[in-house]
Amino acid sequence: MKKVIHFIVFIMFSGIIFNACSNNNQQNATTASGDTAQVIETIKDPNKPKPMALMMRQMAANADSMKAKLLRGESIDSLSFPFIRFYLVEPTDKNVLEPQFFENAKIYQAAHKAIFDHPTEQKKYYNLMIGACISCHENYCSGPLRRIKKMPIIE
Ligand code: HEC
Repeated sequence: MKKVIHFIVFIMFSGIIFNACSNNNQQNATTASGDTAQVIETIKDPNKPKPMALMMRQMAANADSMKAKLLRGESIDSLSFPFIRFYLVEPTDKNVLEPQFFENAKIYQAAHKAIFDHPTEQKKYYNLMIGACISCHENYCSGPLRRIKKMPIIE
């Protein structure tokens, strides 16, 4: 019984961990005991993630592989990394769909395109694109910022 109460109390206070705007990096959650660590491991995505959240995961995965390729000295092309129209699909929180969000989306779209318009300076433009991810996330969804801030290529 004690364990059950512990579990319920944990769920009440940790709702934020399961929010789509958290950084999804559950190892980083503060764990009061070994039990809670296990709970974190077993409950992933208890809610069905919304299309925008899924697209963002794809964008983050793409950014990671763009970075890996650029670090290997390879060039990247827009067929392998097309622009993902995340701003047309349903977000977890509909309140984000306001003019500032669409403005940030446009700036990000231009930054994404610029990578492929500058084939000899792709690292520089990749970093500028990540800057556009960061600016939007500073306004709308700060959970993933810690992860995104590790994405720029530092040489
Ligand atoms: C115009 C604003 C905007 C831009 C640009 C943007 N994001 Fe997001 N991002 C959001 C919003 C809003 C959410 C929450 C989506 C939801 O929960 O439906 C989100 C969610 C995420 C998530 C969490 C997804 C999950 O698992 O729930 C990650 C990771 C992420 N973004 C990474 C990125 C990366 C990497 C970039 C750039 C390549 C980027 N974002 C660009 C607004 C933005």
